[in-house]
Amino acid sequence: MAKFRRIGVLTSGGDAPGMNAAIRAITRKALEQNIEVMGILGGYSGLLQEKLVPLTTGSVSNIIQLGGTKLYSDRCIEFQTEAGMQKAINTCKKYEIDAIVAIGGDGTFRGATDLTLHGIPTIGVTGTIDNDVTATDYTVGFDTAMNTVVEAVDRLRDTCESHARINVIEVMGRDCGQIALMTGIATGARAVCIPEMPFDEDLAIKNIKRARANGKRGMVVIISEGVFTTDANGNRVPYGEVLAERIEERTGIATRFVRLAHVIRGGNPTLRDRLTATRMGAKAVELLLEGKSNLVVLEEDGKITSMDIVFALTTDRMYKNKLKDGDLDRYNEDEIKQMKAICVKRRAEIEELYKLAYDCQ
Ligand code: F6P
Repeated sequence: MAKFRRIGVLTSGGDAPGMNAAIRAITRKALEQNIEVMGILGGYSGLLQEKLVPLTTGSVSNIIQLGGTKLYSDRCIEFQTEAGMQKAINTCKKYEIDAIVAIGGDGTFRGATDLTLHGIPTIGVTGTIDNDVTATDYTVGFDTAMNTVVEAVDRLRDTCESHARINVIEVMGRDCGQIALMTGIATGARAVCIPEMPFDEDLAIKNIKRARANGKRGMVVIISEGVFTTDANGNRVPYGEVLAERIEERTGIATRFVRLAHVIRGGNPTLRDRLTATRMGAKAVELLLEGKSNLVVLEEDGKITSMDIVFALTTDRMYKNKLKDGDLDRYNEDEIKQMKAICVKRRAEIEELYKLAYDCQ
């Protein structure tokens, strides 16, 4: 069993409900093994600016239920430079931090790999509302964000119904449409629009007109923020607002556009997020104790597992058609097959749910 005297924990990138539960689990699990824990404030920039606080059993008490992140978060550009990395390593040496657990999304994991390469064993825990890390079934924060969307849409429905209007509701998710897709199903949306699937505007209009002809008063359409179109000047603009205007024009039904934006990133984590965060946080410490590093903690078919970070990031790029030259050079045929299988699984899940969203509207 690898022996660490002190580890660091940080949260980086967009915050997500459940990050506090993960911080708590990592701290409690490490302390139980007589490992000290330092909280690094503000993500990787906390390492650069030497902003660290000791975490104790008491300091992580009463946070499991809180949204946001007690350790604060940041997207740190300087950390991506060699000079920034050197500063980070010096901080780790100065504060005798033997290893780090980094909670966040793909940007966070790139940083984690760099730290490992520079001699600080690092483990990633998937925390982002987007659920956009291809290798995992689930990222901490996803469930809470979706429940917040459902609650907001239910409220909008009330007023849509009263006024016989349509609401086009845009939800976050960056390039990933999973929040929009699943909440679209759960709120009975008349149409769902996500970046992963071609959107048939004519069909959506036809469905809306048909529903109205059948007496339906209020209707909602859910769209992901990652869907774009071009305006009259050829500029790339988010499609949501444009779609709302077109629906009103083409159906004659009063239509309002709502952007939920960061509202869905806050709030108390659901049971699902608290539980998964706790399981993943504890697993991260276990992996370090087993002498492992450069791994990301994942959920696969209900089990908490782990995968090499670079493998996970490469799979991610494969899924998003963003592979760079040479990305696959280090992998053998079986490994590439494994990556492809993960991408096929994700794609199939999206296609199945998308069909369901239209079959059951
Ligand atoms: O990755 C989480 C996320 O909330 C995305 O859904 C969204 O596109 C992005 O972060 C927003 O980033 P910021 O908080 O920097 O505006």
